[in-house]
Amino acid sequence: MGQPHVVTGMDAISAGLRHPGLKQALYDEGAVIMDGTLLTLHGEAHRRRRVLEFRVFRKDFFHWYERTVFPATLRASMAGDIAAGRSELVDLGYRVTMNLTADFAGIDRPDQTQEETESLLRLVAVFSEGATIIHSTRPKDVVRDEVRAAIADFEPRFLAPSVARRRALLARLDAGEITEDDLPRDVLTVILQKGDPDEFTPDMLTREIAFYLQAGAHSTANSTIHAFHDIYSWAEAEPARWTRLRDDPVFFQRCVHESLRLHPASPVAWRTATCPMDLPEAGSVAEGDTVEFRLAEANRDRALFGDDADIFNPERQVAPPTLPFGHTFGTGVHTCLGRDLDGGVVPRGAVDPETHQYGTITLFLRDLFARGARQTPDDPPRLATHTARKNWGHYPIVFDPAREWT
Ligand code: HEM
Repeated sequence: MGQPHVVTGMDAISAGLRHPGLKQALYDEGAVIMDGTLLTLHGEAHRRRRVLEFRVFRKDFFHWYERTVFPATLRASMAGDIAAGRSELVDLGYRVTMNLTADFAGIDRPDQTQEETESLLRLVAVFSEGATIIHSTRPKDVVRDEVRAAIADFEPRFLAPSVARRRALLARLDAGEITEDDLPRDVLTVILQKGDPDEFTPDMLTREIAFYLQAGAHSTANSTIHAFHDIYSWAEAEPARWTRLRDDPVFFQRCVHESLRLHPASPVAWRTATCPMDLPEAGSVAEGDTVEFRLAEANRDRALFGDDADIFNPERQVAPPTLPFGHTFGTGVHTCLGRDLDGGVVPRGAVDPETHQYGTITLFLRDLFARGARQTPDDPPRLATHTARKNWGHYPIVFDPAREWT
């Protein structure tokens, strides 16, 4: 592969990622786990799959999910930490988001224990390394063997029982014993009910569900911890800010969006040209060329976000159509399906705080701060050392009763 064409401007990225002649390029080497999944499909095949799976991601559903399912998932995942009065945010963040993502993918956790969540997390970590094998410094065949072993564990232990339970429910639906409303609302159910069985062979189904588990878990966990850190540091600098954070949940969501802008989980998107084309900023692109869209760089464009674009400033005004989180969730045909789930609806003008959809990151963080979460003075957070990405590796917190929101 030659040097990629590089695109860094917000508008040039918006135009480029909408070009129908560009196809996904980041996961070619990770085919062992990514082949044929939504994120790698192109053209009509992608459109059909996206329409099918989008059924799970409708707005009315997020609203219901935020108010009913998510609080219960959060409570169950945090019970031990609350009782202990302390937690480690990387571990907690991954456990909460793993359960959240498994709800959406359609993977049951019958034991509902921390050990079960941790097993799932270990498997998903292997899937993710396989997906982004292009960045791995380890021998690629070793990574691929580990992925095959993880699939061999995941399939009988998690996927097969989840499929069996849903097939039984679908049979009861066909028999008129239950209604559509009694079905779980998740990607697996939609595929089993409406997907083409020739398309979703057993191996394809495994890869698609494994893809959903990785798509949601790592990005949400890392983004949540970054947002905790940004918001906590900002509020500690001027303690009156805590009152505003407590009393104004819409402003709190604005803070989460500002943090998402600064720390996009996928700093770049890659595409390959399927035909010769002209792209804004890149110019003339030949068939087979790769284009690198630098999402993280665009998110710090001073012309759009001001001279302080590199720092966390939730007071900044961002003029539409630029989104307050920039290109963090991608754009164009592969725009993240979990965007509104995690980030909520972007307020346009005044919104009713009672009915507004905030997104799970805001809800999770508000819950933590309401319980008095703060850094542990004698054990400061540390960045992860096992990855080139600037993510938190160790983030101890305590729940201080004196700082609870009343
Ligand atoms: C803060 C959290 C998240 C971030 C920053 C994020 C970011 C992204 C980005 C940048 C893309 C596009 C990649 C590309 O164009 O090559 C993407 C795609 C996707 N994301 Fe997310 N994501 C997040 C959470 C989630 C969650 C929670 C889910 C599911 C529950 C999810 C499901 C998906 C799916 C299904 C796609 C593929 C869409 C398609 O190819 O049509 N994401 N995400």
